[in-house]
Amino acid sequence: MSIETLSWVGGVTDGFLRIIDQTLLPLELCAIDCRNVESVWEAIKRLRVRGAPAIGIAAAYGMVIGVQNTGVNLFERRFYDVAQYLSSSRPTAVNLFWAIDRMKSRFESVWSSSVSGGSGDVLRVLDELFSEARKIHEEDRAICRAIGEYGQAIIKNGDTFITHCNAGGLATADYGTALAVFFRAAELGKRIMVYADETRPLLQGARLTAWELMQRDINVTLICDSMAAMLMGQGKIDGVIVGADRIAANGDTANKIGTYGLAVSAYVHGIPFYVAAPVSTFDLALADGGGIPIEERDADEICCGFGKRTAPEGVAVYNPAFDVTPAKYINGIITERGIITPVNKENIKF
Ligand code: MRU
Repeated sequence: MSIETLSWVGGVTDGFLRIIDQTLLPLELCAIDCRNVESVWEAIKRLRVRGAPAIGIAAAYGMVIGVQNTGVNLFERRFYDVAQYLSSSRPTAVNLFWAIDRMKSRFESVWSSSVSGGSGDVLRVLDELFSEARKIHEEDRAICRAIGEYGQAIIKNGDTFITHCNAGGLATADYGTALAVFFRAAELGKRIMVYADETRPLLQGARLTAWELMQRDINVTLICDSMAAMLMGQGKIDGVIVGADRIAANGDTANKIGTYGLAVSAYVHGIPFYVAAPVSTFDLALADGGGIPIEERDADEICCGFGKRTAPEGVAVYNPAFDVTPAKYINGIITERGIITPVNKENIKF
């Protein structure tokens, strides 16, 4: 089964983005339609669509939606306003900015040569933008398959792994990054088991990863984040694989809050810790993880998660959505071009 996390419905000028609303899972598998750029922004901000590659794809389509029906005089200005607006939705996953930059490059290569003033020219540019968004989307499918394939080098029959958050089909075009390694292992007949961290506070592990693994009949057991160290201590874990939102030039990796603690625990127990991510998740402009912007989210996600108050009114809350795992705790980074190991700036070259 493959999940259409995002799809384009209709033509270039009148089409819209359809996404699975991930806030409703696992209770409802329901799609919503984003017909204007504000609804794309809102879907990214509220995590209806989430996961680094998926928000990059959503933003690329959002840039098409944002300039549909814009006249030639306003087109260029509007295009850059839409790019800036979508860039403000979430700060940490670099794939969002990478996709927007790709759309800008495509725009810049066609705008001046294509536009002499007529509305037909604008349609040509819109076509180009749509084809770039489509390309970003389709490329991601192939990238995820390659990550799944390369990941087979680190997983063998009978292994038990932990994963954190959701780096599956829902976080990408389909198939995922970290989960792609498990999906491919199962397709090859390897008998594996996965512990899914529930992933406080928004429970991507419980709601999405457990659901995706069960959809594919992979043996999954849900645990609270705080239980991982104990399982490692009991000798029950062979490895950890997580996704990433941004990887600095030295391999320091931002991923969902809790990843850093998991990596330290794995390190202490001598358990290999892997990151699975496409090349588009690397930000080589940053020498190390210290420069990665960390999103802080609303206190209610911790105090009032899913509608029930679980902390006193008025309590101070700190809610960073991501943390940065130092490269020294990461045994390898599984990309669509192979596994980077050891993880250091000499080996991170594209
Ligand atoms: O806040 P989220 O749910 O968007 O966080 C997602 C993660 O941290 C994922 O692990 C990461 O984006 C990789 S998805 C292939």
